[in-house]
Amino acid sequence: MRLDRFLTRRGAHSGKEVARLLADGRVKLDGQTETNGLRKIDRFSRIELDGEILQAREAVYLMLHKPAGWLSATTDPLHPTVIELIDHPLRGELHLAGRLDRASTGLLLVTNDGRWSKLVTEPVEEISKVYRVTTRDEISPDTADRFAAGIYFAYEDLTTRPAVLEVLGGREALLTIHEGRYHQVKRMFHAVGNQVLSLHRESIGPLVLDGLAPGEFRHLTAEEVASFRRLPPKNQGGADSDPLKSMR
Ligand code: URA
Repeated sequence: MRLDRFLTRRGAHSGKEVARLLADGRVKLDGQTETNGLRKIDRFSRIELDGEILQAREAVYLMLHKPAGWLSATTDPLHPTVIELIDHPLRGELHLAGRLDRASTGLLLVTNDGRWSKLVTEPVEEISKVYRVTTRDEISPDTADRFAAGIYFAYEDLTTRPAVLEVLGGREALLTIHEGRYHQVKRMFHAVGNQVLSLHRESIGPLVLDGLAPGEFRHLTAEEVASFRRLPPKNQGGADSDPLKSMR
């Protein structure tokens, strides 16, 4: 939305009055006097008129170390959800930028900024995700090549994008994927006749889970937020019919 339109609606001013308010230097956008009414704003822009705050909403960006057993959801009638781990005044506004299965552990990103979470999760962005995986059987020598070539998922009628598998030991590996299909990692190993026993997400794009114990969270820095986006960071404060159900 444009700043002048916001001011017109918010203050019931005419277009002419708004132009005058701006020209007189009475409007501040994100702490700076703003005279250009065409300036784009969003719901996290801080807007003041004559020192009175018309809009000031904190954008929240968090990294959480998801423990096993917690559901990647905001509410659930049966299971504890990861949002319950976040003691924050804006908890009710938060949503997850991506999910992990209930038994999986590791990095989850949580925010109240829907545009940012789209940047993190939209397949077109091709954000890399690295998973540490332990498997039931030894990882066969051809697995890396098969993952690099892509695995066909009949359910969605698609082939996964090239993935990089680094085998660390007989049954342990790091897998890097650039999309987030439903139960993707488990299904990829299933397709090559193996089974994932544990799954831990170590990183998403440039963000690496470090120094957080399971259940702990921290605010992302402005640089970490900006590392995903082409937009400047905002006012950041600190079924039974489901054929894939057995993979949860
Ligand atoms: N792939 C899976 O199969 N499970 C997860 O939790 C994440 C990726």
